[in-house]
Amino acid sequence: MKTYFNEIGSNAVKLFVKTKMFIKLFSLNEIMKALIIYFTMTGRTKQTAEAIASKLSVFDVSFLPIELNGNSSEKKKYLASMRKNDFSLFETILNNIDFSSFDILLFGMPTHGRFPPKIFEEIVSKGKNLSGKEAVVFTTARITGKKALYHMKDKVEEKGARVINQNVFRKLFKLGTEDAIKFGIQLNTRYK
Ligand SMILES: Cc1cc2nc3c(=O)[nH]c(=O)nc-3n(C[C@H](O)[C@H](O)[C@H](O)COP(=O)(O)O)c2cc1C
Repeated sequence: MKTYFNEIGSNAVKLFVKTKMFIKLFSLNEIMKALIIYFTMTGRTKQTAEAIASKLSVFDVSFLPIELNGNSSEKKKYLASMRKNDFSLFETILNNIDFSSFDILLFGMPTHGRFPPKIFEEIVSKGKNLSGKEAVVFTTARITGKKALYHMKDKVEEKGARVINQNVFRKLFKLGTEDAIKFGIQLNTRYK
């Protein structure tokens, strides 16, 4: 009787080990894909996005950077034209955003006048296949980014995605990467 149960026990262990191995092999082929889409003017949001990504080891991470380049008067000029709904500088990018091949989408924006820059609305409205996706929103700010963050969350959810995490990275002077790294670790462990 004892042996019989031992045998059942050891077979169950073997089956458990084999199943775990299979799941592991299977999940190696099925690594989850993350897309980090961000806009940056002075580099703080880019730095934050890259710090978060550095900890997302369970994901295959891609970036969709939208960066304003040039000197500060050129950047101001582009920003002013975007405020007037002229997104011609980024037209090709905006017309080709498709979220379908990603499992999770991370949207990162600076806070401009308590809201994300207008290009955020363009990304969300023009991007294809956002509905049904899991999403993360974050903003970088110097004083407060809460309103921008809630706005981003609302807009993404209006398009049918589910925001599973959000954060404001706020520092008056040097932002650093410490908080972004902690946030990345937190996101990563959710899927481990
Ligand atoms: C036009 C403009 C408006 C801004 N408005 C705010 C604001 O309302 N609240 C705030 O905390 N920071 C504000 N900031 C600071 C930025 O949010 C902050 O520096 C951000 O991290 C910049 O991100 P970036 O380096 O990726 O462009 C503003 C900056 C600019 C250029």
